[in-house]
Amino acid sequence: MSQNDIDYGTPARQSATLVTLTIDGRRITVPEGTSVMRAAAEAGISVPKLCATDHLEAYGSCRLCMVEIEGRRGTPASCTTPVTPGMAVWTQTDRLARLRRGVMELYISDHPLDCLTCPTNGDCELQDMAGAVGLRQVRYGYEGENHRAAAKDESNPYFTFDPSKCIVCSRCVRACGEVQGTFALTIDGRGFDSKVSPGALESFMDSECVSCGACVQACPTATLTEKSIIQNGQSEHSVVTTCAYCGVGCSFKAEMQGTTVVRMTPWKDGGANEGHSCVKGRFAWGYATHQDRRTQPMIRKITSDPWRVVSWDEAIAYAAQRLKAVQEKHGRGSIGGITSSRTTNEEVYVVQKMIRAAFGNNNVDTCARVCHSPTGYGLKQAFGTSAGTQDFRSVDQADIILVIGANPTDGHPVFGSRMKKRIRQGAKLIVVDPRRIDLVRSPHVEAAHHLQLRPGTNVAVLNALAHVIVTEGLVNDAFVAERCDPAEFAQWAAFVAEPRNSPEAIAEPSGVPAEDLRAVARLYATGGNAAIYYGLGVTEHSQGSTSVMAMANLAMATGNIGRPGVGVNPLRGQNNVQGSCDMGSFPHELTGYRDVADDTVRHQFEAVWNATLDPVPGLRIPNMFDEAVHGAFKGLYVQGEDIAQSDPNTQHVHAALQAMECVIVQDLFLNETAAFAHVFLPGTSFLEKDGTFTNAERRINRVRPAMPPKTGKHEWQIPCELASAMGYPMHYDSASEIMDEIAALTPTFQGVSFAKLDRVGSVQWPCNEAAPEGTPIMHADGFMRGKGQFVVTEYVPTPEQASRFYPLILTTGRILSHYNVGAQTRRTANVAWHPEDRLEIHAHDAEQRGIRDGDLISLASRVGATTLRAQISDRVPQGVVYTTFHHPVTGANVVTTENADWATQCPEYKVTAVQVTRSNQPADWQRRHAAVIDAAAAE
Ligand code: SF4
Ligand code: SF4
Ligand code: SF4
Ligand code: FES
Repeated sequence: MSQNDIDYGTPARQSATLVTLTIDGRRITVPEGTSVMRAAAEAGISVPKLCATDHLEAYGSCRLCMVEIEGRRGTPASCTTPVTPGMAVWTQTDRLARLRRGVMELYISDHPLDCLTCPTNGDCELQDMAGAVGLRQVRYGYEGENHRAAAKDESNPYFTFDPSKCIVCSRCVRACGEVQGTFALTIDGRGFDSKVSPGALESFMDSECVSCGACVQACPTATLTEKSIIQNGQSEHSVVTTCAYCGVGCSFKAEMQGTTVVRMTPWKDGGANEGHSCVKGRFAWGYATHQDRRTQPMIRKITSDPWRVVSWDEAIAYAAQRLKAVQEKHGRGSIGGITSSRTTNEEVYVVQKMIRAAFGNNNVDTCARVCHSPTGYGLKQAFGTSAGTQDFRSVDQADIILVIGANPTDGHPVFGSRMKKRIRQGAKLIVVDPRRIDLVRSPHVEAAHHLQLRPGTNVAVLNALAHVIVTEGLVNDAFVAERCDPAEFAQWAAFVAEPRNSPEAIAEPSGVPAEDLRAVARLYATGGNAAIYYGLGVTEHSQGSTSVMAMANLAMATGNIGRPGVGVNPLRGQNNVQGSCDMGSFPHELTGYRDVADDTVRHQFEAVWNATLDPVPGLRIPNMFDEAVHGAFKGLYVQGEDIAQSDPNTQHVHAALQAMECVIVQDLFLNETAAFAHVFLPGTSFLEKDGTFTNAERRINRVRPAMPPKTGKHEWQIPCELASAMGYPMHYDSASEIMDEIAALTPTFQGVSFAKLDRVGSVQWPCNEAAPEGTPIMHADGFMRGKGQFVVTEYVPTPEQASRFYPLILTTGRILSHYNVGAQTRRTANVAWHPEDRLEIHAHDAEQRGIRDGDLISLASRVGATTLRAQISDRVPQGVVYTTFHHPVTGANVVTTENADWATQCPEYKVTAVQVTRSNQPADWQRRHAAVIDAAAAE
C-alpha cells in the first residue's frame, strides 16, 4: 500500500479574499487564487491528474484534469484554472470521461505494460489514472514508434531513471527547479522526441544533480524509482519521524515492511521541511543497520586488552564500579560526562541528570561547546534567549538575506533550497565568507555582494557595517528607543562611530574594499526586511561570541527583529544541538538555561530529583581535557560524540583520554574515541529512538521508533541504570514520562508533551501558558530579557596569524553528502560523492609550491601535520586554504590549535596558520592511526 499523503494537485494559496463556487453541485469556499483542482480536492472531489502535484506550480500539460465550467467553452484544465466567484464546475460528465480515456490511451500506447513486475506497482499514478478514467482498451497498438526500449540510467547510487516509463509530465524538471533550486534537469527535444535529460544529456551522476530526491518524489510513474523500492517492494506501514542529521530537522515517513525500512519519504506536514529533503535524510539511512554497528555492551580492563562482550547488567555494574573507584581515589569532581547532540532531548536530559545527581558534580558539557556555544552566550546577552529568533518560514518574507559564515546549500540543504527560492523571487543576497560558496552564484541565484573577508575578521567587518549605519543616519531610532536600553545604545553607537571602525580603516585587515562594506551596510539597513543567517564560520573563532553580539547589534539598530522576514538566526549543525543545550548540558546551566548557582532554580530541581546538587558550575570539555592531562580528571562518560576525532588539537585530546582511568563510550560504532575506552555501551539509531529533537528554529519534533532497539534497551534507560548502580535511583517507564518531567521543570517547555506533539505535529518553544501552540517568531513585543542589550564589540585580532613559517590560513567546512566526522555517511553510498577530503588551494599558492591538482601534500601547523590531496580551486582566495573533515584519515584536527572563543571556549576551527608543501607519504600519525584502525577491524 502506498504511504503517500493526499495530493491536492496545486499549492495552497493565502488570501484574505475568499471565493465561493460550486463543484459538482457542492458549494465550496476557498482563498482567491486557488485552482479549481485544489478547490475540488479540498472538498473531497478527486479530479484525474498526471502533471499536477501540490508542491509544484500548475503546468497544464497532460490534459487529464479537464473539467466543464458552465458558461465557458471547451474543457479547461482544472489545475491551471483559478476559481472565480459563482463559478459552476462539473468534474464528471460523459464528455469528460470520453476525452480523458482518449488521453490515457495515448499515454498507455507508449508505455511498457509490465505492471505486475514493475517496482512501483501499487504506487503508480499512471496506473491509478488508467483505473480512474475506466481505460479498457488501447486502440493504437504498440507497433508504432515508441520509447519503450530507452536505456536505463542506474548511475545514481539511490535511484534509477528508466525513460521507457516516462510520460514527460515535467514534474521532475519542475521539482528540481522550483523545490530544490538545482535546475539539473531539462526537457530535451520537442514533441514525440522530447525527453527528460540530466544536464546536457549526461547521466545523473555526471550532472549537477545533488540527489535530493525531489524528482523521485514527484515522479508519478516508475521512471524515477528508489533502488530500495526496486529491491524490497512497497511498504506496508509507515512511521513519521525526524531526520538524524542536520539542524534543519526534516520530518520523514519511514516507510516500512515489518521492521525493515524500504524508503524514507519527506513528510509534507513536516514544519521544517514541508515535504522536501536532502540526500542525507532521504537516502543515507543505511548506517543504522550497517555491519559495523555494535549492539552488545563490551568491557576491558586496559585499552590494550581485547574487548569482551558482556551482558547489560555486567557492563553497567562494571562501569559504575570503575567510576566510583575513580571518585574514591581522586574525589567527586574527578569524573564527568559529555552529552550528545545526536540523541533525543529525553536522552540528553537523563545524562545530565545522572551527572548532576549521581556523579554529584556539574562536570557536564555537550558537543555544542565546539560549535554553537557562542550562539547561546551571545544571543542570551543581547536578547535574553539562547536561540534563533525566527522560524524557517520567515525567510519567505525576507527582502535582504545576509548569510555569514554559513554554507546553507551544503550544511542545511533543505533550508538552503527555501532560501534560494526566496532569492529567485527577488530577495537580495549578501554573502560574507572567505570562500565562494555555491550561493554566491548558482543557477538563477546570484549574490548582490560577496564580502570575501580574511578568516578571523568577522567582528571587524560587522563593526564597519555598524559604523556606516550609525554615521549615515540609518538607525531605526523608534525601534531602538522603544525596545532597547538607551544608555547601552549610546555607548555602542559612539564606539562603532569611531574612525577605527570605519570601512576605510577595516578594509586593510579584512581585505574587503571600503565601498563594498558601505554598500552592504546601506542595503541591509534600508532594503526592507533584513534577515541574518549564520553558522560555524561565525562561532568557531576566538571572537565567536563577540560576532554573535555584533550581529544582534546590527539587527536591533535597524529594527530587524521581532517580526517575520528578519532576525538573527543560527543554522545549527547537528540535529539536536539546540535541544542538547536546552536540556541543561552546559556545566553552569540546568534545563532552559537557568543557572545552577541560582538557589531558587537549583532547589526546584533538588525537590523533584530528590538529590542535593552542587551549586558550583563544573568543567567544560576543554577544561576536562586539561585537567586530565594534569592528572585531576580521571573518568569520562561520552555519549555519541567522537571527541578523539572531532575536537581540536587531536594530540592533546588523545593525551587526555590516555591519562584517564575510566572512559565509557556510548555510540553506534566503535569510533576513534572507543580506542581509549574501557566500557563500550551500544547506542540506538534514530530509527529505534522514541523521543524528541529540537531543530535550529526551536521546533520540537517527535522521533518515533520504526523498529525496536537493536541493543535490547532504549538509550535513555542506560544512564538511568548507571545512575542507579552508582547509588542514585533513577527510573522512568517511558520517554514521554521524561518529557513530562522536563516540562514540569522548564518554563519554556511547560506546555510540551508527547500527546500535544502527536496532536499538532510540532511546536516551537517557548511553549507554555502564554503560548500554548508555541512561538514561531521570538521577541515580537519585547525582548525576553526586557530591553535589548547593545554590547560594545571591540575587534581583537586572533593570535593565530599567518607568518613566515605558516603563511596560509586554513579554514574548514562541510560538504553536502557527508556529515561531521562521517561516522554515519561514510557507512552509506554517499561515499560515491566524496571518497576523501581534499585541500582546496588557490592556483597561485599551488604554483608557488609546485603543487598540481591531485598531488599529495603535507598540511602543517604549529601543533601538527597531516597529509591529503590538493584540489586547485578558485573558490578560495590567495592565502586561504580549505578542507572538509569527514574522513578520519585526513585528521584535519591534528592541525587545528587550542585557540578558542574568549567567552565559551568554542575552538577556533576556522583559523589555523599553516604551511602546505608537496609530500610523498602519509604523516606519522596517519601511519599510527592506520595501525589502530586495523587492530580495531581485526576484533
Ligand atoms: S521522469 Fe517522471 S516526473 Fe519526470 S517527466 Fe518522466 S514521468 Fe514525469
Ligand atoms: S535528485 Fe534532486 S537535484 Fe537531482 S535531479 Fe532530482 S530533484 Fe534535481
Ligand atoms: S536538510 Fe538536514 S534534516 Fe533535512 S534531510 Fe537533509 S540532513 Fe536531514
Ligand atoms: S493535471 Fe492538469 S493538465 Fe495535467
